[in-house]
Amino acid sequence: MNLPAFFEEDRAAVDAALERLMPKENAQPPSIHRAMRYSVQAGGKRVRPILCLESARIFSADVTPALPVACALEFIHTYSLIHDDLPALDNDDLRRGKPTCHKKFGEATAILAGDALLTLAFETLANAPIEPARRVAILSHVAASAGTVNGMVGGQVADLEAEGRSIEPAELEYIHRSKTAALIRASVVAGAISGGADEENVARLKRFGETIGWAFQVVDDILDVEESSATLGKTAGKDAAQKKATYPALYGLEQSRKFAQELESRAMAEIEPYGPRAARLRELTELIVHRRA
Ligand code: FPP
Ligand code: MG
Repeated sequence: MNLPAFFEEDRAAVDAALERLMPKENAQPPSIHRAMRYSVQAGGKRVRPILCLESARIFSADVTPALPVACALEFIHTYSLIHDDLPALDNDDLRRGKPTCHKKFGEATAILAGDALLTLAFETLANAPIEPARRVAILSHVAASAGTVNGMVGGQVADLEAEGRSIEPAELEYIHRSKTAALIRASVVAGAISGGADEENVARLKRFGETIGWAFQVVDDILDVEESSATLGKTAGKDAAQKKATYPALYGLEQSRKFAQELESRAMAEIEPYGPRAARLRELTELIVHRRA
């Protein structure tokens, strides 16, 4: 996939900031820091931090204060992948083309590395160089989005409980919007607040983030059917094998693709008022819907 230059630039800035914000590998006790660093540096696309930076850029030319916020979202995302891959959850050996954290470091260390990344995320947010009222608003929104009420953990619970049985469309929507869309929405909202957006604009970007986040998981479901493990860097075809609740399972591939495109149009409509200032968010939206991995 041809990535736009800004994407690579943002990714490099995020990678450097992640490196700076993580405890050094030789900090005591080194085993946990090695595991945290291994998973954070395993080659993720950095979609959430880049969405955060580009949402901030709509409102501010200097997005450096948003960098730690962007990193906190990647820490939370990485914790969720480490825990999702554990034997008690999705039980996977491969992630981002490498052995999963528990395969490499053992289950106890992987559980603790996830816990540590979640904690580090909130420490990083608390220390972000952003005006206190805005910082608290970011903390509150990110915490809720990672939590149980319409948040990531709640969605993950519903996802596990839906395995192996047929579900209604409303339940599938709830799973996708909570498990995946909530953290993507939080990335966009946190970026907008960091950049100085007012309430009306935060609300607009919240709708945008919610919609692309939903599209992200619909596309993820489609890719699990269409792509190989080598392309995805994780075990392909797993949703069907585990009898997961997915869009292709409920509606078929064709309808799922159409739905992802409809969500793309809805998201684009939300950021239309920003004109050229949202050019990068438009490109990101396209990338999310048309990605192959
Ligand atoms: C792939 O992201 C990840 C998702 C589509 C999210 C799936 C949701 C979970 C795993 C929630 C788990 C929650 C808990 C509490 C365990 P990506 O394609 O951006 O991955 P990358 O960072 O490797 O590129
Ligand atoms: Mg899962």
